[in-house]
Amino acid sequence: MRRKITVVGAGNVGGTLAQRLAERNYADLVLIDVVEGLPQGKALDLLQAGPVVGYDCNIVGSNHYEDTAKSDIVIITSGVARKPGMTRDDLLYTNMEIIKSVTQNIVKFSPNCMIIMVSNPLDAMAQLAFHVSHFPKNRVMGMAGVLDTARFRTFLAQEAKVSVTDTYSFVLGGHGDTMVPLPRYSTVAGVPIPELFPKETIERLVQRTRDGGAEIVKHLKTGSAFYAPSAAVAQMVDALVYDQKKILPCAAYLEGEYGINGFYVGVPAKLGKNGVEEVVEFKLSKEETAALKKSADSVKELVELMLTKMK
Ligand SMILES: NC(=O)c1ccc[n+]([C@@H]2O[C@H](COP(=O)([O-])OP(=O)(O)OC[C@H]3O[C@@H](n4cnc5c(N)ncnc54)[C@H](O)[C@@H]3O)[C@@H](O)[C@H]2O)c1
Repeated sequence: MRRKITVVGAGNVGGTLAQRLAERNYADLVLIDVVEGLPQGKALDLLQAGPVVGYDCNIVGSNHYEDTAKSDIVIITSGVARKPGMTRDDLLYTNMEIIKSVTQNIVKFSPNCMIIMVSNPLDAMAQLAFHVSHFPKNRVMGMAGVLDTARFRTFLAQEAKVSVTDTYSFVLGGHGDTMVPLPRYSTVAGVPIPELFPKETIERLVQRTRDGGAEIVKHLKTGSAFYAPSAAVAQMVDALVYDQKKILPCAAYLEGEYGINGFYVGVPAKLGKNGVEEVVEFKLSKEETAALKKSADSVKELVELMLTKMK
């Protein structure tokens, strides 16, 4: 039997992700949304691209969770996205109600699935899904680091005037203003960037990475980024489906790693068929550790706000 992947939220990220996954042709897909007709229309449109592109997976659009039953992987993109002037944290109270009910429905019909959270504020929503699902920590993860890393790599490649494929980078921490790009672990053709660029240049690129989401929101005015975010999720799904043991920066539940306990924060994680199979601990400098702690503290603050509101 073919594996089954559900994408919750048929908006910009969810719709584009469904297209990317359909084109991979490794799973049947279910697209779910509260808006009647939206997932059905997009699913039918995607099905009709199959004969041209050359994929033959089944794609169903629905407003009912019965159709998601026995999914292997569920990606949650439902909720509201940012508008200009908003931070990701401003979405907390609206999205937490949505994510809570979505997670309950997912667990009911797919008790053995892996959950990849995408909705913002990302780390808090991943924590909420973990809390509500009662799944083991390896089966609930969040996508942010792959996107933030891709943004950093794009700016590095532009600065160095090389192909993006020659760049490598790591961005840790929460998906917000306190994210922690790691220049020492970022390279162009294998050379660490502190050996290539002056400090001011690196600081400028780091700041642009931190503001990367807001820069796009400012252009779009009515929503936030979705091409790069959906590509980033698809890379994580590939790692699970192909059991790649790929080390990607993602939001993972920490129990003492990096000195953080009981919270979802962006860290390097080995992804394979069992989800987050290992949190990889890089050796961090004093400054990097302090920046990661500051970032974790801001996630903690948000999670505490959320849990108080939910009581
Ligand atoms: N983690 C990241 O790096 C990252 C990147 C981009 C976007 N995001 C987040 O992803 C989310 C989706 O962004 P988008 O641009 O696709 O937004 P969007 O508005 O285009 O799509 C969201 C969809 O969710 C649906 N929805 C709302 N409530 C629902 C519910 N209860 N059940 C099912 N569907 C429901 C809406 O009808 C809509 O179609 C936002 O929270 C955004 O901030 C995160």
